[in-house]
Amino acid sequence: MLISGDVVIFNVFYEIFTVCTSIVAEDHTGKLYHARNLDFGLFLGWDVKNSTWMVTQKLKPLMVSLDFQRNNKTVFRSANLAGYVGMVSGIKPGIFTLTMNERFSIDGGYIGVFEWIFGKRDGWWMSFLTRTVLENGTSYEEVKDKLANTRLLAPAYFILAGNKSGQGCVITRSRTAALDVWNLDTKNSIWYVLETNYDRWKVPLVVDDRRTPAMKCLNKTLQENVSLPNLYNVLSTKPILNKLTVSTTLMDVSENVMETYLRDCPNPCSPW
Ligand SMILES: *[C@@H]1O[C@H](CO)[C@@H](O)[C@H](O)[C@H]1NC(C)=O
Ligand SMILES: *[C@@H]1O[C@H](CO)[C@@H](O)[C@H](O)[C@H]1NC(C)=O
Ligand SMILES: *[C@@H]1O[C@H](CO)[C@@H](O)[C@H](O)[C@H]1NC(C)=O
Ligand SMILES: *[C@@H]1O[C@H](CO)[C@@H](O)[C@H](O)[C@H]1NC(C)=O
Ligand SMILES: *[C@@H]1O[C@H](CO)[C@@H](O)[C@H](O)[C@H]1NC(C)=O
Ligand SMILES: *[C@@H]1O[C@H](CO)[C@@H](O)[C@H](O)[C@H]1NC(C)=O
Repeated sequence: MLISGDVVIFNVFYEIFTVCTSIVAEDHTGKLYHARNLDFGLFLGWDVKNSTWMVTQKLKPLMVSLDFQRNNKTVFRSANLAGYVGMVSGIKPGIFTLTMNERFSIDGGYIGVFEWIFGKRDGWWMSFLTRTVLENGTSYEEVKDKLANTRLLAPAYFILAGNKSGQGCVITRSRTAALDVWNLDTKNSIWYVLETNYDRWKVPLVVDDRRTPAMKCLNKTLQENVSLPNLYNVLSTKPILNKLTVSTTLMDVSENVMETYLRDCPNPCSPW
């Protein structure tokens, strides 16, 4: 694949300055829903006059939905930033849905990315991996295994949902291994899994806790009320919705739904 210098730099920035919230939830009939906010532009220029992040504002019009076809048939669909070669959120109709969140980790952090820039190519760009599994993955289990075990350039969280009860997980990755796989388990009342940008066994940064409010909202929603509109409401709750939020994407694998909404966070609203 040919990649221009600008695109590489854009991807490097993308891989570094994105924070996100992703949720997979199962309703009482075993139906799976997957939703995410894409938050982009942290540290890339706060506009005091407008109380906005300049890069976030610039990116909003670049959000596009793509339909990848082979022989006139949809292979997968994704919600992407135009010009960005990886896959941010994607759906393989009838089979699985996938999102990726940034994992800021000091151990092993971005060494791989910088090595890559300087010529040592040891591991996969996280977003090329998501693209590959969306294009060629054929089942939840197969994709889960690939996401857990492929060597990466940097740590990441993969949030994956399949097409039947129990098929939902958050995979916490270091460059080389899956550190944790958090699975849905409705028999034990785990009817949703969610990820922001912190390992689930650690407390989130106090100034950036989107996890607790998201869990509070979901707990209040109750499993019997899970639906795409309700997940949209959860993702519209501040500070899960914040000034970095570019878009909200909602996916329902069984109905082949993927909808992306551009977002604004009216004041008062947290900068992140
Ligand atoms: C502030 O936002 C308005 C519209 O949203 C835009 O026209 C204006 O250029 C922005 N100001 C700056 C300094 O970017
Ligand atoms: C794909 O669809 C278009 C428009 O529906 C049609 O013109 C074209 O012949 C189709 N191509 C194939 C390979 O079926
Ligand atoms: C998917 O598989 C096909 C056939 O093996 C291959 O040509 C293609 O490059 C693969 N796609 C990606 C993104 O790896
Ligand atoms: C669910 O995914 C499996 C592959 O894991 C596939 O064989 C099956 O047809 C899918 N079910 C539906 C209802 O699409
Ligand atoms: C939400 O419910 C789960 C499961 O009952 C519980 O472990 C968690 O502490 C609750 N979180 C919040 C923020 O209410
Ligand atoms: C959940 O749905 C039930 C009906 O199934 C309704 O009575 C209740 O008000 C709903 N709760 C919320 C928080 O939406």
